[in-house]
Amino acid sequence: MRADIHLIPSSPLPRGISERSVAVIDILRATSVIVRALSQGALEIIPVATVEEAFERVNKFPQGTTLLGGERGSKKIEGFDLGNSPGEYGAERVRGKRLILTTTNGTKAFHSVSRGGVVMAGSFFNIGAIARHCLNLGRDLLIYPSGDEGRFSLEDTVCAGMLIDRILKETKGPVPLTDASQAALILYQKFNENLMRAFRLSTHGRDLIERGFEEDLACCAQRDITDIVPIFRDGTIRIGEEI
Ligand code: MLT
Repeated sequence: MRADIHLIPSSPLPRGISERSVAVIDILRATSVIVRALSQGALEIIPVATVEEAFERVNKFPQGTTLLGGERGSKKIEGFDLGNSPGEYGAERVRGKRLILTTTNGTKAFHSVSRGGVVMAGSFFNIGAIARHCLNLGRDLLIYPSGDEGRFSLEDTVCAGMLIDRILKETKGPVPLTDASQAALILYQKFNENLMRAFRLSTHGRDLIERGFEEDLACCAQRDITDIVPIFRDGTIRIGEEI
């Protein structure tokens, strides 16, 4: 199994993605929200690119079954039920519900890699479970940090480095690393003791603090609080079965 990271979202995807496992990461905050919502009993999540599509899709489901969530400019969208803070997605709000989610980068990222062999949602919340799942699958891995409007993002890359670190610790087999994976591993080692420091240095982390979402940063830094592995298939994200 080889492990690579697609450091710059706007660059072309590598060849052979349909054979690989793909882990999408948007720590601040889309994949943190997705993992939290499913771990709290949400039925499924439909990630969509635009606000218009979200409103169209919600009308196709029976009333009361489906919630609209997400952000633009980090803020809750007018007419939506929920914003993009993981803390909003507790069981009391989401249990038994379908969610339609639209965010600036994270929800689009799933569609960018929809050709992947197995597409997962990763975050610090489920990092150990994702590492084990990647090893069980045994496919070559592409980690896909969602980044910031096509650009590299520090916090997603630190999480990608942690995923590489967990994979290396969990296996005795060889895991050849690309230069991108080596670089992410080094970044992770630098910030492992203080993820908040990486968040505070990152462009999106600073934006979130400025817009009043500082407590989301501490929330998104929690590690291994759930063992679920959300899988994106046919346009929908659900908890995957054990393999
Ligand atoms: C995104 O998908 O770009 C983020 O989740 C944005 C945010 O939470 O502010």
